[in-house]
Amino acid sequence: MASRLYSGRRRRFMDRMKDGVAIFQSAPTASRNGDVEHPYRQDSDFFYLTGFEEPGAIAVLSRSGRKRTFTLFVQPNDPEMEVWTGRKAGMDGAVEKYGANEAYARTEFAERLPGILTNRDRLYVRFGKDTDFDGTVTRAIEALKAEARKGVFGPWELIDPRRILWDMRLCKDPQEIKALEKACEITKAAFGSAMRAVRPGMGEWELAAVVEFEFRRRGSPRIGFETICASGANATTLHYISNDSRIGADYLVLIDAGAEYQMMTADISRTFPASGRFSEPGLTVYKWVLEAQKAAIAAVRPGVTYREVHETALNVLCRGLKSMGVLKGSVAKIIEKGAYQPFFMHRIGHWLGSDVHDVGAYFDGSKSIRLRPGAVITIEPGLYFPVSDKSPEHLRGIGVRIEDDVLVTSKGNRVLTEGLPKEPAEIEKWMAGPDSWWDGLKPVSIKRG
Ligand code: GLY
Ligand code: MN
Repeated sequence: MASRLYSGRRRRFMDRMKDGVAIFQSAPTASRNGDVEHPYRQDSDFFYLTGFEEPGAIAVLSRSGRKRTFTLFVQPNDPEMEVWTGRKAGMDGAVEKYGANEAYARTEFAERLPGILTNRDRLYVRFGKDTDFDGTVTRAIEALKAEARKGVFGPWELIDPRRILWDMRLCKDPQEIKALEKACEITKAAFGSAMRAVRPGMGEWELAAVVEFEFRRRGSPRIGFETICASGANATTLHYISNDSRIGADYLVLIDAGAEYQMMTADISRTFPASGRFSEPGLTVYKWVLEAQKAAIAAVRPGVTYREVHETALNVLCRGLKSMGVLKGSVAKIIEKGAYQPFFMHRIGHWLGSDVHDVGAYFDGSKSIRLRPGAVITIEPGLYFPVSDKSPEHLRGIGVRIEDDVLVTSKGNRVLTEGLPKEPAEIEKWMAGPDSWWDGLKPVSIKRG
């Protein structure tokens, strides 16, 4: 049962906290305009511990010796409101479906908090996101301190729970990996469709719509981040999301997108020719990025540092920049001077999970962190030649990034996005395939006998 997954996570969190109380808040709702709100997405930390997707909730975990409790404050059932917004879990649902030991209306939180914190040494809480919430918590603590003469005290230690929680979230559990596999499968299918749907003259927006249409019809409730569909020189802007240019016949197209599935997101980038055939000089740039990407993926295994993976790719990219005549001197000197930075200005990748740039440390003290089994890292080298004096003339306007999602396993790694073409010949073959997405559009939600 799903609630066992979340109770297991709460137990593991409480195993790692000291005696005390931990409080987590749901994501706020965001007004779009008038009385219309942006689509709601739960806070990743809150979801991780509760599986609860409604706004206006607070979770309280309490550990006192062997005694552990889980209390949920939620929006109560409101039949009048539910005519508009649908049925909510309410307090009964919080107990029955979400495994809370006790549940109260969210409006009772401020009133009940001093009781919850009375004579508790420690409070694990994240401040800084919501001033009302911060004020409620600090007022409760101060009210308890004022009762000292009655033998009452409030928490002495305030601890950020993210130190424990984000370390837990860094190494994915089997359910998270399963959800991520599905997110990757959906995203791969969408990229496959986009590669076949692209036509010179088409709008970037239309190609982005193909990607997101595929996400949605294959069961993803939302994108994990804004879709980047960048053609030609737009691909030299790392997070280009306006997607409002037309795709030229001789352009490369860079798509960087990810479907979310069960609150886990994929993150894939592919660069491919609008015409279906690679040509120079884009092909040479592409091959260097691909070589760097494959070398970095091969380096991913437990015990290797993030920095070593980054430097593996960097070495190949610098060899490429030298070979293409962009930079001169030894690779060691190019790296030492940072001469590559105008053309490769980001790191090799990031943790991936519930957030696209997922939580988890990149440093252990001052040292680059070592990869651990269960962590998922994107491997996404790129080379970018903006239209400026800094770029050699013949390469101006070329931007290439290739990105896969890589799970660190006990023996090495597993590429969760394996199988989506990335060798130039594979891409060309795929794009020339007879079963073009446009001609072969079929509903995937209806199974045919
Ligand atoms: N996919 C966007 C990024 O990694 O920043
Ligand atoms: Mn990425």
